[in-house]
Amino acid sequence: MTTERTYDFIVVSNRLPVDRVVPATGEAFWQHSPGGLVTALEPVMRASAGAWIGWAGQPDLEFEPFESDGIKIVPVPLSTSDIENYYEGFSNDTLWPLYHDVIAPPKYRREWWDAYVEVNQRFSDAAAKASAHGAAVWVHDYQLQLVPQMLREARPDLVIGFFNHIPFPPYGIYSQLPWRRQIIEGLLGADVIGFQRLADAGNFARAVRRLKGYDTRGPIIEVPIEVDDPGAGSHRHVTRSRHGGLVRTVLAMQFPISIDARMYEEMASRPEIQERARQIRKDLGNPKTIMLGVDRLDYTKGIGHRLEAFGELLADGRISVDDVTLVQVASPSRERVETYRQLRDEIELTVGRINGDYSSISHTAISYLHHGYPREEMVALYLAADVMLVTALRDGMNLVAKEYVASRVDDDGVLILSEFAGASDELRQALLINPHDIEGLKDAMLRAISMPKRERSRRMRVLRKRVLTNDVARWSAAFLDALTRSAHADHPLQHPLGHESRER
Ligand code: G6P
Repeated sequence: MTTERTYDFIVVSNRLPVDRVVPATGEAFWQHSPGGLVTALEPVMRASAGAWIGWAGQPDLEFEPFESDGIKIVPVPLSTSDIENYYEGFSNDTLWPLYHDVIAPPKYRREWWDAYVEVNQRFSDAAAKASAHGAAVWVHDYQLQLVPQMLREARPDLVIGFFNHIPFPPYGIYSQLPWRRQIIEGLLGADVIGFQRLADAGNFARAVRRLKGYDTRGPIIEVPIEVDDPGAGSHRHVTRSRHGGLVRTVLAMQFPISIDARMYEEMASRPEIQERARQIRKDLGNPKTIMLGVDRLDYTKGIGHRLEAFGELLADGRISVDDVTLVQVASPSRERVETYRQLRDEIELTVGRINGDYSSISHTAISYLHHGYPREEMVALYLAADVMLVTALRDGMNLVAKEYVASRVDDDGVLILSEFAGASDELRQALLINPHDIEGLKDAMLRAISMPKRERSRRMRVLRKRVLTNDVARWSAAFLDALTRSAHADHPLQHPLGHESRER
């Protein structure tokens, strides 16, 4: 019997909502990184004695659980070698490129897989330890796909959800993975598996049928119960399959993620942020058109394709730097992974060439910014930009597209959006493009530049309505509702998120 505190609602993700920052000089400190997920889950966390389990973003540091802004934080340590093999290796050099349609070649290394299993077990152990009886545990993203099954084995009393923030690839691609069966088994430990798009859920169901031979009916997957399964007695949703055996049902469907749209709207309405937007335009020389790209510097984002299209329009003389300027914010990401280093070199070479060829003393073709910025500055940039370029080659959702729309309180601005981003399922009034089709992309850019104000407003109003209605609170509520229903079915617990926490 220990006296460690346990929780009724647990979020598990690779990164915590706070980062440990260790500066070259001076004291280390915790920095809040208020992503959309935190904003969405904060109210649920506070209302239900919740805890967040994840990595603090630095190697070899161990911390006791602590409280940050009313949320209990439970750090999981990663060693330098875990970061190399589990994070940079298997997560970001195997799964990331594989799940994004092999835009870059995935590497398959057995020692990376071993580290992935080991680290997933560590996250699962931490979650098992922190969970009260019957707690709801929500596991996030591709770094932790083995956790649901590990956790189910350790704690069959828990209600387990998993959400995949990135795409799930078609079987023809997924089947390359030497550990394809283990990953499917890992995910099927969850009661509810969420994906961004209907297509992702379909790809997953197909992989389940091909690799496991289980029956799927729409979003329902029937997982046979093993006779010697330690948790067989407490399984939820136990029914008899067409073939007569006992099965547990897993719900695998789309829950498209969103943003805290009201917060963006509120920020964009502030006079000081609108003033900053005017200042940005002025600083850029008050061009007729400002185009904007905002991305993590990642090869999935199609930054090279958009630069190519922009450069060709300048070369063809169809636009001029006197009238049109491109601002590209590329925030640093995964810089120790070789493919990302190469990408940075390629992008910076291209930007340098285009600027060298077309900029004048008074007008720069591309303002390239290799930094992250505070949210206020991003909203000012969104307000300043006439055309937003989202040209991803593959993207689970792309929240930048939604942030741009939510920020345009003036019902103006044109969104150019890749059909390969999940957001294109919802944001149909954007100018939808295929980023591989450079001529099509150039035409869309020209169309956006010359689009009449009435059409811009008409499109933006429809887009805004969509984003403001389907916000991140709705997303988390829909997922947690599905999870709660799964807990109710033939299980004595009431709402798993409404309990007081207990000592254990
Ligand atoms: C994507 C992934 C997240 C990840 C983020 C930043 O959005 O879906 O899981 O946290 O990129 O990447 P990083 O490797 O810095 O955590």
